[in-house]
Amino acid sequence: MTTTWHRLYSLHEDRALAQRLRESLSLEEGRFDMRHFPDGESYLRLLDEVQNRNVVVLADLYQPDRRILPLLLLTETLRDLGAGAVLLVSSYLPYMRQDKRFHSGEGVTSRYFAKLLSRYFTALVTIDPHLHRYHDLSEIYDIPTRVGHAAPMIAEWIATNVDKPVLIGPDSESEQWVEAVAKQAGAPFTVLSKTRHGDRDVEVSVPQIERWLDHTPVLVDDIISSGHTMLETLSHLERLGLPRAVCIGVHGVFAEGADEKLTAVAQRVVTSNAIPHPTNAIDIGGLLAASIQELD
Ligand code: R5P
Repeated sequence: MTTTWHRLYSLHEDRALAQRLRESLSLEEGRFDMRHFPDGESYLRLLDEVQNRNVVVLADLYQPDRRILPLLLLTETLRDLGAGAVLLVSSYLPYMRQDKRFHSGEGVTSRYFAKLLSRYFTALVTIDPHLHRYHDLSEIYDIPTRVGHAAPMIAEWIATNVDKPVLIGPDSESEQWVEAVAKQAGAPFTVLSKTRHGDRDVEVSVPQIERWLDHTPVLVDDIISSGHTMLETLSHLERLGLPRAVCIGVHGVFAEGADEKLTAVAQRVVTSNAIPHPTNAIDIGGLLAASIQELD
């Protein structure tokens, strides 16, 4: 049976996104007071009755370590005061890249983080989580999940804003994703091909490069974090004589000034509002609302 959601509590910095969700799903605004005591601990007070209300908690969990505790304190309070189902809508789902023990002794933190959230929430909705070694969130989450895909919104943005685009994947792993966006945008695509001649000798080329010299290269990735993946690809493209590229990321984490480094060398850097940032130009509000409605 589909759950009827009554109210939305938002910890998301993007107030317009919260309002859009409330309007699309006819949710009341969950009012609460949250601030810090002088010693840095959190004070929290709900300003509405929540007994038996099914609530949505909207969060943007980038830089998760400092955002997770307020989220869990809010959720504990909601449950303690009698809320029914509690749905987490996290437009960016962190900790998905630590999906294996890369070195002995390391924690597989994606699993631990998933266990933690599964203990607190009834269900989870997110946008394009980083599914690399896991193929489905159900491999690590014990609660029902729903994933929205931003590819159609990215394709629409490219079709409307980029003159003669050619989508470029940084490597063969990205081919499926780049091909899907390119098809929806009605644009061609290609992927960089790498030939390794030695540990430090990798030759990068673009197949049939002469076809694309008068096109605008468009790089698309799920996450832009340190920016290294895109910066490296941009420098290959520059060396190969292609025009400046447009860089698109679903989740602009932009660690350590990656946004400034990228804007210095790209034609334009664009992200979705899954993570609030001045580069946001692709709205995923409708996608989140639809994903909540599709939750079984
Ligand atoms: C990698 O597997 C992801 O799809 C992204 O390419 C990666 O997370 C980007 O990270 P960074 O910006 O730090 O290179």
